[in-house]
Amino acid sequence: MVTSPGGPAARTTTGEVHRHGLLVGTAQAGVRMIGGSADDRYPSGVDLDRPSAARVYDALLGGSANFAVDRALARQMLTAEPNAARWAQANRAFLRRAVDFLLDEGVRQFVDLGSGLPTVGNVHEIVHAADPDGRVVYVDVDPVAVAHGQSLLAGDGRAVVVQADIRDVDAILADPATQDLIDFDQPVGVLAVAVLHFVTDDPTPILAGFRSAAAPGSHLVVSHLTTPDEMSAAVVGVVAQYNTRTGTPLTFRSRAQVTDLFAGWRVLEPGVVPADTWWPEPGDLEEPGARPRVPIWAGVARLPYVA
Ligand SMILES: C[S@@+](CC[C@H](N)C(=O)[O-])C[C@H]1O[C@@H](n2cnc3c(N)ncnc32)[C@H](O)[C@@H]1O
Repeated sequence: MVTSPGGPAARTTTGEVHRHGLLVGTAQAGVRMIGGSADDRYPSGVDLDRPSAARVYDALLGGSANFAVDRALARQMLTAEPNAARWAQANRAFLRRAVDFLLDEGVRQFVDLGSGLPTVGNVHEIVHAADPDGRVVYVDVDPVAVAHGQSLLAGDGRAVVVQADIRDVDAILADPATQDLIDFDQPVGVLAVAVLHFVTDDPTPILAGFRSAAAPGSHLVVSHLTTPDEMSAAVVGVVAQYNTRTGTPLTFRSRAQVTDLFAGWRVLEPGVVPADTWWPEPGDLEEPGARPRVPIWAGVARLPYVA
């Protein structure tokens, strides 16, 4: 694998093409590249100079699919808030528990909005461990996340990655991959985990769009960063800097605002709570008082059979 900027790409035995530790294409997946340009080293749309939400999050989780600009921001965040990596891990753990819960409720098809770079405990892995026939449509706007996902899932007919902006609900619903894998007459799990804080406008229409399409018994899973008053000034400062340099700026929302996102859905126990306290399992929850609270609100709701 090549790690020096501008060096030749390396192709692995599986046909994956890596550069700077990033997967940039595969023989099998046919990942879209910048065709014929002087810079056909990365998937179309990659900006090496601006941090991306997907890659900074990957860096915080200890992944390798990120650039120097992303690692620098992750380091800045960790300097400002040494718990930032733990917050990302707590969010992933919430995602895993929520998917397990939905599987227990009989949900077998999932649309994962803002799915991010593949990492430990991907949704399709959790789903297929429970039911090999379960279906997952991943949606992300980030070209690197999409390229990695398409490579990982090449040849898997039960999980796909769609490159789309989650604000374009109609395009996601009409995408042939969605149409192929998701039967909207059956309950679906709509996952909006750590993504809606990247939507600057009111995210309610996005969720309303999926609610209209979803059958009763469907579930909505949301996690969302809280308001600045619940975080240190240093972290808020790093976020403010990030916002001036990225295409996916962060918007803080309060617990009441996050609760409002579930309009039309029935929020299930224990309600909208810090991500690490949503039905924690042994090992997920640290000693109370041992750390500041995870500043991410999380909740799961069901579309009732009778309104
Ligand atoms: C912090 S990551 C969360 C990944 C995963 N959902 C999780 O919780 O572990 C946020 C992801 O949302 C994606 N994202 C941000 N804004 C988006 C948008 N408008 N449409 C689609 N994806 C978006 C980013 O590219 C990134 O991959």
